[in-house]
Amino acid sequence: MSFDPSLAARLQRARGILARSDRVAAFSGAGLSAESGLPTFRDNETDALWSRYDPIELASVEGFLANPERVIEWYNWRRSRYAAVKPNAAHRALAGQPRMIQITQNVDHLLEQAGVAADQVDHLHGSILHDRCHAGDCDYREIIDPDNPLALRACPRCGEPMRPAVVWFGENLPQTTWLRAQQLCMSLDCLLVVGTSATVYPAAGLIELARQHDSRVIVIDPNPGAAGNQADVYLAGAAGEVLPALLDGFDLATAS
Ligand code: APR
Repeated sequence: MSFDPSLAARLQRARGILARSDRVAAFSGAGLSAESGLPTFRDNETDALWSRYDPIELASVEGFLANPERVIEWYNWRRSRYAAVKPNAAHRALAGQPRMIQITQNVDHLLEQAGVAADQVDHLHGSILHDRCHAGDCDYREIIDPDNPLALRACPRCGEPMRPAVVWFGENLPQTTWLRAQQLCMSLDCLLVVGTSATVYPAAGLIELARQHDSRVIVIDPNPGAAGNQADVYLAGAAGEVLPALLDGFDLATAS
């Protein structure tokens, strides 16, 4: 793989930071799965989801209550896209660091498919492979087969509608997962930020939280975006190309 000289120099600097780091974690967004063929949300590409669909209509409680069939159909379409793809070299590079915790905004399970242990992945925005009851006081949930997703249906336990177990705009993040992610980011030597526009809070706030607690930040993204401004080293490139070169030969861990 041929890097441009400036990227190669920055890659060396980033590897120097990792060599001096005992506690490392990764924080990822849709860009991590882009090379697998899943669309991102805000990229300036034609298939970015929010350039074609209205997030409030499709990823909010009000959108779901206004037209639940439309929302379930859209997520089942995303599930069919997901069922057709495989992990890419970036997922595999991260899976090559089995002691490193993965904090991800992604609802796909491509990190797990690449070999990351499920208990090493914090899905801050939930999982597209699960449905849950929409009622706040019912914790019924089901695993979904992305090849055979189900139409709109009632919760078998309480009768309220079932919906994808993802976090919609305006909803709280899963509390235990969110607390663990914050605690991790308060005790890191280095946070790898991979493929996120870092524009959706509170998740995006993890980068500043890590920096406030003396963590270094390495950003991997073709576009610097908001994360690039917070980076000790910004590696301009696709995750599937940069991550294997960045992580090669390391055995990184989150808890030292
Ligand atoms: N490698 C690395 N980064 C990439 C690649 C790639 N091959 N392709 C695109 N990117 C970058 C883009 O430059 C952009 O910075 O991935 C980022 C994708 O940003 P978004 O589309 O905003 O996705 P994300 O940051 O995950 O969005 C956060 O917003 O809509 C909500 O819940 C949704 O979890 C999502 C959250």
